Amino acid sequence: MMPTQPSVLSPRYSDLLEKLPNEPRTWLITGVAGFIGCNLLETLLKLDQRVVGLDNFATGHRHNLEQIRAAVTPAQWARLQFIEGDIRNLDDCRRAMTWTGAGTQSSALATQHSVDFVLHQAALGSVPRSLEDPITTNGANIDGFLNMLVAARDAKVARFVYAASSSTYGDHPGLPKVEDRIGKPLSPYAVTKLVNEQYAEVFARAYGFRTIGLRYFNIFGAHQDPEGAYAAVVPKWTSAMIHNEPVYINGDGETSRDFCYIANTVQANLLAATAEHPDAANQVYNVAVGDRTTLNDLFEAIRATLEPRFPHLKGFKPVYRDFRAGDVRHSLADIGKARTLLGYAPSHRIREGLVEAMDWYVNDLSGRGGR
Ligand SMILES: NC(=O)c1ccc[n+]([C@@H]2O[C@H](COP(=O)([O-])OP(=O)(O)OC[C@H]3O[C@@H](n4cnc5c(N)ncnc54)[C@H](O)[C@@H]3O)[C@@H](O)[C@H]2O)c1
Repeated sequence: MMPTQPSVLSPRYSDLLEKLPNEPRTWLITGVAGFIGCNLLETLLKLDQRVVGLDNFATGHRHNLEQIRAAVTPAQWARLQFIEGDIRNLDDCRRAMTWTGAGTQSSALATQHSVDFVLHQAALGSVPRSLEDPITTNGANIDGFLNMLVAARDAKVARFVYAASSSTYGDHPGLPKVEDRIGKPLSPYAVTKLVNEQYAEVFARAYGFRTIGLRYFNIFGAHQDPEGAYAAVVPKWTSAMIHNEPVYINGDGETSRDFCYIANTVQANLLAATAEHPDAANQVYNVAVGDRTTLNDLFEAIRATLEPRFPHLKGFKPVYRDFRAGDVRHSLADIGKARTLLGYAPSHRIREGLVEAMDWYVNDLSGRGGR
């Protein structure tokens, strides 16, 4: 059963949202044209922050950036300095550590600012992609990660927050997942995310560098790509249902996940970057909701949310097929550590997130003709 009761916005997050516009900081978002990156961008620009964005469009899209431009004021958009570059190239990483105002139209803005906080999202996601092409995944996720760490350390950024992953729990059977109990990785992707955590820990010990890893569980929401072989389940099913195409469930549908709405993920990043608790830095945190939802429940929730707008979904059924290699059977997070040390409290549980996400997909998919 999926709970519907809303959670309260974290007091620390409310304070931060109030304070930041009066104390603009400089943020670097890598993977800024991707799903999570462009949502971070939208929130930070709306808070009048300066942002350097880095992306090579490997899986991200220019249209994501265009949509954020349309959602903010021209003055806020002018605070983005976008660099088309590759984290596998150390020079691109170093270049991204300073906001120069380049590309902005206002000369008043064109003063240099060193990056205060890095939100490192750039990577090649997807377990199946990594099983098919481990070398390319390794290049972006490990070589690229190390370049970013070195560039950020040399630039003396205050905090390096990075996208870790629930895949790091690997074959550990325990539920809910607690940060210090992990198993062996089940895919090349999971290896890369584990290595990221190990590098971050070594940079803390060896250089006194401050990092925070956010182990995202299954994140969903606006701007998540529904297309391509490696699309995530929520956008893929949503698109298929809207277009009256088959929805495939791998296995019996009783596989479960802790689906986490993007607004919670954005919250976790901003809290992690600015956390003042003495024990907060040099840690990894689960970023999820703490609710377990089966694929069968997810299918029904998406179908029911869309049905009023798409009557063909009345009685719509999924197609079951084989389990997928590398997938864990159940995943559920304990979010106590993020609550205690970061002040994190999910603002959206799955149903609330799905309602917002469905509104976005219905608009976006119906406007795709001109893209
Ligand atoms: N979405 C999830 O549920 C989830 C779960 C766990 C972890 N993560 C992690 O979160 C991060 C963001 O994921 P997302 O869902 O937004 O994926 P995404 O594919 O939408 O975004 C990744 C972005 O990184 C960029 N990128 C990739 N390689 C690059 C390179 N070499 N140089 C510069 N940019 C590069 C891509 O072009 C893209 O814009 C990733 O690190 C991913 O592993 C995501």
